Amino acid sequence: MSSSEWSKLIDDIKRCSKCRLSKYRRNPVPGEGNPHAKIMFIGEAPGAREDATGRPFVGAAGKLLTQLIESIGLKREEVYITNVVKCRPPNNRDPEEDEISACSPYLTKQIQLIKPAIIVALGRHAAKFLFESAGLKWRNMGSMHGRVFDAVLFGVKTKLIATYHPAAALYYPKLRPELEEDFSKLKKLYSREVAVKSKPRSLLDFF
Ligand code: URA
Ligand code: SF4
Repeated sequence: MSSSEWSKLIDDIKRCSKCRLSKYRRNPVPGEGNPHAKIMFIGEAPGAREDATGRPFVGAAGKLLTQLIESIGLKREEVYITNVVKCRPPNNRDPEEDEISACSPYLTKQIQLIKPAIIVALGRHAAKFLFESAGLKWRNMGSMHGRVFDAVLFGVKTKLIATYHPAAALYYPKLRPELEEDFSKLKKLYSREVAVKSKPRSLLDFF
């Protein structure tokens, strides 16, 4: 990926008025982190704090997400964090179908440029969108969370995994252990898919 292609995409999102959400937002929230990340976390849409700051996952749910990312030995700056929809829906309502259709080409392009080895869908809205875009059937979080699916998403071969939205675990504390367990599966997947494959080969490997 050329860095100018990436910056142009981010600038396009910041200037976008393709859907009605542009009328309500204070700041668009394109995403944050490393555009060369091996792992991408995708939520639903910005909330109040995200709208105020222009940064994804910086409120209460974001604090939990940051802790979960650190619990698997990664830093926020090493991964890429974004949402299906880049502007906050008024009163945090669910994004509407036409808003998702207007906005999703940005997410598609982000995935195509980052080419992450692993994509984590946070919550059922992101999960439904990502699974269906990969031609996989989405049932429900209870039966699908923590499972790793081989997917080709917008031409990118990746491992797709869904888990509960961190905000759901704050609201229903009994989901918290399941969310933590999914992250420990993610840690194993990460070391299998990323850490091992990108380890420099030692000369001994050739003998
Ligand atoms: N919830 C989301 O889905 N995304 C954010 O960025 C913050 C809260
Ligand atoms: Fe544009 Fe997406 Fe914001 Fe709608 S939600 S204005 S499509 S960036």
